[in-house]
Amino acid sequence: MHTRRKFWIGFVCGIIMVLLIAFLILVSGALDLSASGKPGAIEKTLAPWAFERSMAGRFPKKNNPFANDASAWAAGMAHYRENCLICHGAPGIEGNELSMGLNPPAPALDAPEVQELSDGQLFWIVKNGVRWSGMPAFGPTHNNAEIWKIASFLRHLPHLTPEEKEQLRQGMQNNRNHQAARADGRVAEPSVEMNNER
Ligand code: HEC
Repeated sequence: MHTRRKFWIGFVCGIIMVLLIAFLILVSGALDLSASGKPGAIEKTLAPWAFERSMAGRFPKKNNPFANDASAWAAGMAHYRENCLICHGAPGIEGNELSMGLNPPAPALDAPEVQELSDGQLFWIVKNGVRWSGMPAFGPTHNNAEIWKIASFLRHLPHLTPEEKEQLRQGMQNNRNHQAARADGRVAEPSVEMNNER
C-alpha cells in the first residue's frame, strides 16, 4: 500500500480512538461535574485558556468612558452592593454564605490578576458572564452605561475609603441577618440524614 495512504488511515483511526476514549469516559460517568467535585488539571488549565481565547476577539477595545469619574463610582457601587458583593465580597468584607459553595470560586476583584484586565475586558465579562461558572451575565438587566460605571467602580475597589467600606458593609447586613438566624437555630437546619444524601 502507498505509504501516504497508510499514514491517512492511521491518522483517521487515531482520531476515532481519541473520540471513542473521550466518549467512554463521559458515558461511564467517571467525571464528577458537581460543584463539590474538584476540577482536574486539564479542566483547570484548559477552561481559563479557552475562555481567554473566546473573549479575545469579542471585548470592546476602547477605554472606559467613565474612567476616574467619582460620580460614576458612586452609581457603580450601588449596583455592586446589590449584585456582586454576595459572591465577590470586597476588601475587608467576605462574600455571603452562598459564595463559599462556588466552584470555580469567585475571585477577589481588587486582586492584581483582575486589575490587570483591560477596561473592555472587565466590561465584557460583567455584561456577558462566564459560562460553566457562577458568574452571571448582567447585560440582560443593565444597560451599557451602567455596566461601564460598574467597571469604573471595580478600578476603585483597591482604594475604597472607610466610608465606602461602611456603606458596602451595610448592604451585606440583610444577608448576614439570614446567616445569623441560621447560626441561632431560628432557621431549621437540614437533618443529618439529608446532609448525607448525595
Ligand atoms: C453568583 C455569584 C457571582 C455574582 C453575583 C457575581 N459574580 Fe463575578 N464571578 C463569579 C465567579 C464564580 C467568577 C469566576 C469565573 C471563572 O473562574 O472563570 C467570577 C468572575 C468575575 C470576573 C473575572 C475575574 C477574572 O479573574 O477573570 C469579574 C471581573 C467579575 N466576576 C465581576 C463581577 C461583577 C462586577 C459582579 C456584579 C455586577 C459579579 N461579578 C457578580 C461569581 C459571581
